[in-house]
Amino acid sequence: MALALMVASVVAVPAPQAASNLSTTTAAPTATVAYKTVSGVTIPATCTPSPGPSKELFNEAKLAQNAVIRSNLFNQSSLFFDFLDECRTVGVTESFGGRTIRADSLTFPALVGNGGSITMGFIKPCGFNTPHVHPRSAEMNVVVAGTLFASSTNENGVNHVNQTLTQYSMTVFPAGAIHTEFNPDCVDAVFVAGFSNEDPGVGQIVQEISGFEGDLLNAAFGGELNVDGADIEAYRSKIPANVVRGVESCLAKCNIAKR
Ligand SMILES: *[C@@H]1O[C@H](CO)[C@@H](O)[C@H](O)[C@H]1NC(C)=O
Ligand SMILES: *[C@@H]1O[C@H](CO)[C@@H](O)[C@H](O)[C@H]1NC(C)=O
Repeated sequence: MALALMVASVVAVPAPQAASNLSTTTAAPTATVAYKTVSGVTIPATCTPSPGPSKELFNEAKLAQNAVIRSNLFNQSSLFFDFLDECRTVGVTESFGGRTIRADSLTFPALVGNGGSITMGFIKPCGFNTPHVHPRSAEMNVVVAGTLFASSTNENGVNHVNQTLTQYSMTVFPAGAIHTEFNPDCVDAVFVAGFSNEDPGVGQIVQEISGFEGDLLNAAFGGELNVDGADIEAYRSKIPANVVRGVESCLAKCNIAKR
């Protein structure tokens, strides 16, 4: 299960996705281009998916004695990261609601030693980047197309907050804040998320919680009075992979089927 976790006039929307078909080669709705799904990511059938950057380059960058030596490890191509590379599968999280693409120390080793990383999200109408945390970094989230409703609980004792972000507006989620982004509109939304860590990490909260032992989960949710064991098991099996297609009222407004 993909637990990881993703411009209006200036940036194209993501490649057409045949996300409802998760296993086989299939045709995009309007194009004649065929698509296939590799590691849960829809790419043109003609693509040879890249295994991602070499581990060797990452290791050398980590071990470089200074920044000059490190900088000289990189060339024209290894200093370039294209979020619209339609053959990319490494660092891409995709589902019904859209996709997010991570440029971090794993997917883009040129970041090693530079203290930051970027995720871009291409969120479809009613798409929902489910509640998650970044354990090692704050997130600065700028919407560059469409609208996102952002909602966050930072920690115990801090009031829950929300923001409606429109084009070129931003908010911040402190490190460890449980936050979510939802596209309430019937057009695509695109965001750029900046992190002050090369490896900010991500944990989808609902999936993480559901990984606990059933009796502990049951007790944490208030014991037998609230949720019985069978409910917990049923609930576990229904948790969707990020990015999901939600919320009912938006789906109805935009006339989108739930699955
Ligand atoms: C650039 O660096 C990468 C990684 O070290 C290497 O695989 C690639 O061949 C280099 N490209 C050129 C054009 O030198
Ligand atoms: C956002 O937060 C405000 C203030 O807490 C609250 O009144 C409002 O209902 C929230 N918006 C939504 C859509 O839940």
